[in-house]
Amino acid sequence: MKENILEFGELSLSQKEEAVALFLDGFGKFMTFSKDEKVKKQLFMEIFDSKLFLCYLEGDKVLGLMGLGTNKIRPINFKKDVCKKYFGKFKGTIISRQMNASFQKAVVKGDKELYLDTLVTHPSCRSKGIGTILVNKACNLKDYDSIIVEVFSKNKKAIKFYEKNEFVISKKHKFSFMRLLGSGYPIKMTKNIKHKETI
Ligand SMILES: CC(C)(COP(=O)(O)OP(=O)(O)OC[C@H]1O[C@@H](n2cnc3c(N)ncnc32)[C@H](O)[C@@H]1OP(=O)(O)O)[C@@H](O)C(=O)NCCC(=O)NCCS
Repeated sequence: MKENILEFGELSLSQKEEAVALFLDGFGKFMTFSKDEKVKKQLFMEIFDSKLFLCYLEGDKVLGLMGLGTNKIRPINFKKDVCKKYFGKFKGTIISRQMNASFQKAVVKGDKELYLDTLVTHPSCRSKGIGTILVNKACNLKDYDSIIVEVFSKNKKAIKFYEKNEFVISKKHKFSFMRLLGSGYPIKMTKNIKHKETI
């Protein structure tokens, strides 16, 4: 089957919905600002960056999603006007402010560092190499010499996955308030990229 990596903005409407559904499957438990799944889906359709999300497709099915951030831009922006549209002026403003305090915070320092903001593959297609294909895609981006990711300490499968892909633990945030979410503490993992010399 033909496999393909496309930007979120290049997907059809139904493929965008599949991409958002994948995201919510992997990370929905952290989106505690609303219990209304339908509204959350609509919101993310509008606030996903069209270029910074790369989607892995087989045929026309979206089976993997990777969001990339830099020291200047991150792929999910809880824009105030969009949040207000779905949650009203008061709650929308609070959601925008609180969520962007994490999602728009600068997480890498230098121009050469790339942040793996989000990585998720379809639950029925895991351990088939899709996650690795997406990570390799990020590693091949010429502008960066290291990739950084944050994983929760209880997410043993993801930690093992990143270790297999040559990421090493660079910091453990053991005293993070994120611990209260129940997934353990954030662990920062880093991979240094060696680009092949071109002659
Ligand atoms: C972490 C995650 C992205 C990995 O995606 P994946 O598509 O399963 O990744 P891969 O298939 O490339 O690698 C996973 C495993 O399959 C193995 N594998 C890779 N290619 C393979 C192949 N062709 N055949 C069989 N196994 C393969 C890898 O060695 C790895 O081994 P493991 O089973 O011991 O872990 C996925 O588990 C996921 O979406 N988790 C939920 C969201 C999440 O936690 N994201 C990470 C936090 S940012």
